[in-house]
Amino acid sequence: MKALVTGITGFAGSHLAEYLLRQNVEVYGTVRSGSRLDNIRGIRQDIRLAECELRDPVSVDRLVKALRPDLIFHLGAQSSVPASWSAPLETIQNNIAGQINLMEAVRRHGLDCKMQIACSSEAYGAIWPHEAPIKETNPLRPLSPYAVSKVTQEFLGGQYFRSCGLHIVATRAFNHIGPRQSEKFVASSFARQIARIEKGDMPPVLRVGNLDAKRDFTDVRDVVRAYWLALEYGEPGEIYNIASGTCRPIREILQLLLASSRAAIQVEQDPGLLRPADAETLVGDSSKFYRRTGWKPEIPLTQSLKDLLDFWRAQP
Ligand code: GDD
Repeated sequence: MKALVTGITGFAGSHLAEYLLRQNVEVYGTVRSGSRLDNIRGIRQDIRLAECELRDPVSVDRLVKALRPDLIFHLGAQSSVPASWSAPLETIQNNIAGQINLMEAVRRHGLDCKMQIACSSEAYGAIWPHEAPIKETNPLRPLSPYAVSKVTQEFLGGQYFRSCGLHIVATRAFNHIGPRQSEKFVASSFARQIARIEKGDMPPVLRVGNLDAKRDFTDVRDVVRAYWLALEYGEPGEIYNIASGTCRPIREILQLLLASSRAAIQVEQDPGLLRPADAETLVGDSSKFYRRTGWKPEIPLTQSLKDLLDFWRAQP
């Protein structure tokens, strides 16, 4: 069985590739010219990479036609919420074009393939306290261009399922963490700063943004297992929350990480890290996915944070 992973060089993409290899799936991934391959260094010999610009219909068409994958995991996207405010148009164009180009290629070449679309809990945006934990049926009130791009990806997936009969399953993952995550994201930013402070590479002042936000964290290795199960057992045309069901203030993530270090560290809020709008609380109900697949997260948060901190400590 052949799987195509877009975004394979990214955080979740690299963990998904490792998981797929363990399922004895042939793994192919898209890369852009100049993509950093650090995240897939350990599996470089076991996977095949194809240069492909997802925004370019010709590039995507050529790849899909030649490869004829059985499974597509579409993770490649501009994934940072703050970056979507600095580059709203690019975020929307990038995330939507990639998805359309893939679906069009699958449709045009009549592929019998299953496709997962990595969407996001950010789609829910502004939720009311009585709505938590959030079910898939909750109204969507996106708060950022990134969130709108992900809602659009879901809608497009649903449309191609209904109008063209494509086997598309959308996953709304809540926050995920673990080794190899970019320091653009909160837990990884904190862990990297702690590791750098420990090495004496920066002054002992850790910069943070909004510590009052509450998020639902799952280990990336549990999340990619969910992506696989979404295509194994998920119903086409459906959307599934991937969440732990527990939410924690960002302040608690910071405290847990600080408690793992012996360094004396001061914490300072950096106004530049505050966002124009930030969902207060995002906690998901993934019982719909559990009923369909039996998926539950297995890796405890403390383990994910430890692995993340160890990852940064091991960086040169
Ligand atoms: N990045 C960052 N850096 N966020 C901070 C910081 C900081 O120093 N301090 C506090 N935060 C808060 C943010 O304001 C937000 O409320 C929360 O921490 C999580 O921020 P991120 O880790 O950047 O993740 P995100 O929730 O914006 O988006 C991530 O999760 C989504 C799934 O819910 C990304 O991985 C998205 O691609 C993904 O869809």
